[in-house]
Amino acid sequence: MSVRDRGWNDARLHVVTGKGGTGKTTIAAALALALAASGRTVLLTEVEERQGIAQVFDCAPLPYAERRVAVAPDGGDVYALAIDAEAALLDYLEMFYGLRRAGAALTRFGVVDFATTVAPGTRDVLLTGKVTEAVRRRQGEERGRTPRDATRRAPFVYDAVVLDAPPTGRIAQFLNVNTEVAGLARMGPVHHHADRVMEVIRSAQTAVHVVTTLEDMPVQECLDGVEQITDVNIPVGSILVNMRRPRFLNETDQRAAAEGRVDTEALARGLKAAGLEQAEQTAQELVPELLAHAHTVAAEQGLRERLEAAQRPTFDLPLLEGPIDLAGLYHLANVLRTQGAV
Ligand SMILES: Nc1ncnc2c1ncn2[C@@H]1O[C@H](COP(=O)(O)OP(=O)(O)OP(=O)(O)O)[C@@H](O)[C@H]1O
Ligand SMILES: [Mg+2]
Repeated sequence: MSVRDRGWNDARLHVVTGKGGTGKTTIAAALALALAASGRTVLLTEVEERQGIAQVFDCAPLPYAERRVAVAPDGGDVYALAIDAEAALLDYLEMFYGLRRAGAALTRFGVVDFATTVAPGTRDVLLTGKVTEAVRRRQGEERGRTPRDATRRAPFVYDAVVLDAPPTGRIAQFLNVNTEVAGLARMGPVHHHADRVMEVIRSAQTAVHVVTTLEDMPVQECLDGVEQITDVNIPVGSILVNMRRPRFLNETDQRAAAEGRVDTEALARGLKAAGLEQAEQTAQELVPELLAHAHTVAAEQGLRERLEAAQRPTFDLPLLEGPIDLAGLYHLANVLRTQGAV
């Protein structure tokens, strides 16, 4: 896949979704590192109040402030922000009404709780608003304020923003929430704000990447997710197939083994040549494992073909051994870069 075909060369907001547990947080972190290569500055955000980013980078829980969490191999910076709906709401009150100091009182009277937990969709409005604010922010500009003419063309603060997003089941509704808001509030600052959020999310500045593993349910959710995101006119980026297991057989042997045929004698000869004692017995014992492996690989190939229905560039990320540390994240970032995903 050439860079030209990729379709998200202009993307500055990379949204990472997928079925629960497929590796969204891990891949979002690796993607942020990959994007930060060559001295770029990237913000990695999360919105589920689970401190997933702090866990992958093995650092203290993130406050509601942008902190540097990692340096890319050749020098770029990855900042992280755990977005909290209540803090984002107080940001808005300040932005729209200059109400920073009222925040404490509003919190005390439960208004903030009401807005963030009771009013449907408000949470998502606040979270997507904060993410897109970071995408639009330019240097020399006060957070959230419209730039003065002098700073309008200043460079962006972040070259890219990566969002560790809600799972596929909720992603279309989450990203599209401001469309409804813009429809409800016909004018005024809320309408204007909702429009500005959707402007970013619907534009070529956004790419939604879907992480999946090669198992039935994640693949189905991935395909459903791609369809739902497309239906609300939000640009889908790539499909990221995570935790790919190594394959041990060449194509011919794989096909034979998947059909239950293993040349046990050839296997024994191979083992003997490799210096193993009791090669015949070992070969016999290995046969069921080989058949199981071939069976899994065949099933994975079938699922990989199903993913082609989505007609999106698809990249493979290997299954790493043991808990994923920073070196593991660098490795995944490198795989993304060498495959041309970023
Ligand atoms: N390529 C990989 N190789 C090995 N382990 C992986 C890989 N990717 C993710 N993992 C591991 O799988 C587990 C789930 O990953 P992660 O937390 O990133 O998934 P998630 O989709 O964000 O989950 P949740 O839906 O709970 O937020 C973690 O223990 C992580 O270290
Ligand atoms: Mg996660």
